[in-house]
Amino acid sequence: MQNKKNTISANGTQEKENATNGGMQSSQLMKLFENELKDIFWAEKALTKAIPKMIKNATSTELVEALTAHLEETKQQVERLVEVFTIIDKKAIAKKCEAMDGLIKEAGEIMEFCEAGAMCDAGIISAAQKVEHYEIASYGTLRQFASTLGLSDVVSLLETTLEEEKEADARLTEVAESAINVEAAEMEMA
Ligand SMILES: [Fe+2]
Repeated sequence: MQNKKNTISANGTQEKENATNGGMQSSQLMKLFENELKDIFWAEKALTKAIPKMIKNATSTELVEALTAHLEETKQQVERLVEVFTIIDKKAIAKKCEAMDGLIKEAGEIMEFCEAGAMCDAGIISAAQKVEHYEIASYGTLRQFASTLGLSDVVSLLETTLEEEKEADARLTEVAESAINVEAAEMEMA
């Protein structure tokens, strides 16, 4: 963006600017947006199956409540994405998100590795926060793409989900700070 003026004056045309300045046509941005949308759609659907396993392995009431609330939100987020596909007039297709698949696999390994109780709770929080941060990055990007594409209805749907992800992350931090990490450390020292 900083080179934009120079590039335009040097080349004269918008087309050349795109080629030399890394600029992107809206059709290309739309393709990228759709691709990212399919990725997060897969991720959210996978999470509706993964979060119940975390709930099953969690001990702390606060953690169970936080995860249960976010499971319900996640189901709504899947529906919200279907709405986005409808608005842009594309089929709601999920494309495997390798990153989320890896994060979910790691969560499974942590739950196997940790002892039940405070240690496992702390492990679940760490895995769940990695998931939230991936989602925050994805929805932040998607919202920006949608805004650049002028899709205001889509922006507000994505914004709603982005806020939910941020709140879920903050709530997990609170749960960790309130008790679980302290308990896990005390168990370690005992
Ligand atoms: Fe989500």
